[in-house]
Amino acid sequence: MLAFAYRNGALCAEQVLLEDIARRFGTPCYVYSSAAIESAYAEFERALRGRAALICYSVKANSNIAVLALLGRLGAGFDIVSGGELARVLAAGGSAGKTLFSGVGKSESEIEFALEKGIGCINVESEPELERVDAVARRLGRRAPVALRVNPDIDAKTHPYISTGLRENKFGVAHEDAERLYRRAAKMPGIELVGIGCHIGSLLTEAAPFAAAAQRVVALADRLEGAGIRLQHVDFGGGIGIRYKDEAPQPIAAFVAGALAALGTRPHRAVFDPGRSIVGNAGALLTRVEYVKPGASRNFLVVDAAMNDLIRPPLYEAWHDVQTVREAESPSAQRVYDVVGPVCESADFLAKDRKLAARGGDLLAVMSAGAYGMAMSSNYNSRPRAAEVLVRGDSAFLVRSRESVEQLFALERIPG
Ligand code: LLP
Repeated sequence: MLAFAYRNGALCAEQVLLEDIARRFGTPCYVYSSAAIESAYAEFERALRGRAALICYSVKANSNIAVLALLGRLGAGFDIVSGGELARVLAAGGSAGKTLFSGVGKSESEIEFALEKGIGCINVESEPELERVDAVARRLGRRAPVALRVNPDIDAKTHPYISTGLRENKFGVAHEDAERLYRRAAKMPGIELVGIGCHIGSLLTEAAPFAAAAQRVVALADRLEGAGIRLQHVDFGGGIGIRYKDEAPQPIAAFVAGALAALGTRPHRAVFDPGRSIVGNAGALLTRVEYVKPGASRNFLVVDAAMNDLIRPPLYEAWHDVQTVREAESPSAQRVYDVVGPVCESADFLAKDRKLAARGGDLLAVMSAGAYGMAMSSNYNSRPRAAEVLVRGDSAFLVRSRESVEQLFALERIPG
């Protein structure tokens, strides 16, 4: 499903002209296609048909409550990493019981909040965290549903900043420690062991490491079963990549098939927590060219979006396609540009060395920005965060207003 396509030379999100969105809501502006989100979710569902399974959308990728509400209506559960994300899920009408709480640093108050709301599962990532969850649950007179996130020590073959399943990463409990911890947890009165999980990293293009991790985790579940510890679910993680440039990630179905093959006929519910593969290509960052700035060695398009809006290019040297909202008529008008923002950092670029035909005032769309775009944005340089718009068919809805400058310092005080 293509979220963005040219119609009569003008780039549209579904049936809405991006020019109209810019006119109505201004720039910079994130634009998401509901149909593209629904279609990516449906791809997961199809691959899981006939199996006991739960797709827990990873909220960190794009946490706008309109996106969460859309996925919740489709039946998705959620994967969260903070009390803030749980609050968003609840505000969006999502179910706490279908929510998994991951992350290495859960605070006592976050654990308490999650238990009070009836969280589906806490993915414990260390022994001291296990002790803390047990203590909080006992204090509340409850038993906490828990899975251990196991670090399967598998190389996900992705960018080191987003690889998480290696021994050297901070995530999960070491594979060789897991059995001892499960035995210990089984004796804790505040803990109810419900599952086991893993997540080896993000932006995976090959299903093989994903399947290898799944096999290791299922083998561990078998050993635990032998020791009398019966679990209800296996969480295979997220991390399925998308195409930004010329990557050719294997389809969602190939990843799911690898995990399901590892699970075989075991009765466990299969859980996945995808983020990027659901929303990544469903979003674009719409921005306007402020200045065309030719230079002796490089030409720049200075646009009104910047690294505070989309930090992936400077942070990971990530490549995002840039399209002109008016389709280029003749290639002869094209020049090679760096697309840069107004932030005072040399790292403030959205794209480098792109052949584009653009003039001051033109609109550009930075593609594949639906995941880890707005969610990682900041107010650096006192820049109000962009607006967010959700498109459905021929309608566009403002789902987050552009921040005002006053909001940026509303919480600040000058002492007496
Ligand atoms: N589950 C767990 C436990 C995770 O840590 C993550 C992502 C996911 C699921 C979702 O992964 P996805 O399906 O979206 O790849 N900011 C980086 C990506 C960081 C991913 C962190 N963990 C980026 O912009 O590429």
